[in-house]
Amino acid sequence: ARVAILISGGGSNMSALLDDMADPDHPCEPALVLSNRADAGGLAKAAARGVATAVVDHRPHKGDRHAFEAELNEALAAARPDLICLAGFMRVLTPEFVAGHAGKMLNIHPSLLPLFPGLHTHARAIEAGCAVHGCTVHEVTGELDLGPILGQAVVPVLPGDDADALAARVLRQEHRLYPQALRRFAVGKREPFAILDQPA
Ligand code: GRF
Repeated sequence: ARVAILISGGGSNMSALLDDMADPDHPCEPALVLSNRADAGGLAKAAARGVATAVVDHRPHKGDRHAFEAELNEALAAARPDLICLAGFMRVLTPEFVAGHAGKMLNIHPSLLPLFPGLHTHARAIEAGCAVHGCTVHEVTGELDLGPILGQAVVPVLPGDDADALAARVLRQEHRLYPQALRRFAVGKREPFAILDQPA
């Protein structure tokens, strides 16, 4: 399956997915890395791995989401993706865009959904006094950060954790979770899986 990865920033999840797809036995191959920001660090990482990149800047469209998404779809059509992975992509997509890619789009979110949809998830988990936190890969449907869960990874919240320490612990698990979730999704597996061991 041809995979397009959408990013907005450093692209550490994108890199984990690209590294995993370097395995010749992987059911997927990278077709495109697309960012809404020309300064996204992930673009250079993708180019260094020989993956085609594109930038579709959302700012000229001044909140006209559909105009921005028409440009997104043009860039995507050229790459002919079978699957789309949102990886640190920070734009909200309209239900129409999502419907146009129904059943083909995944996202990683840094919480154990349905807990803490939205932003600042690590600070909120600490604030709530959670003993565990983690990340979720889910299918993208109309509702932001919700949709059928494909996999989750759990980490402990440790005494003295601040949001940065917890975010770093979760991010290491994201890089394990997303590649496994993509492999399973690509071969039609839909039952959710859990990563419970958190290596040092
Ligand atoms: C990560 O916390 C991820 O969960 C969220 O965006 C952050 C940065 O991801 N989706 P990346 O390093 O750009 O992949």
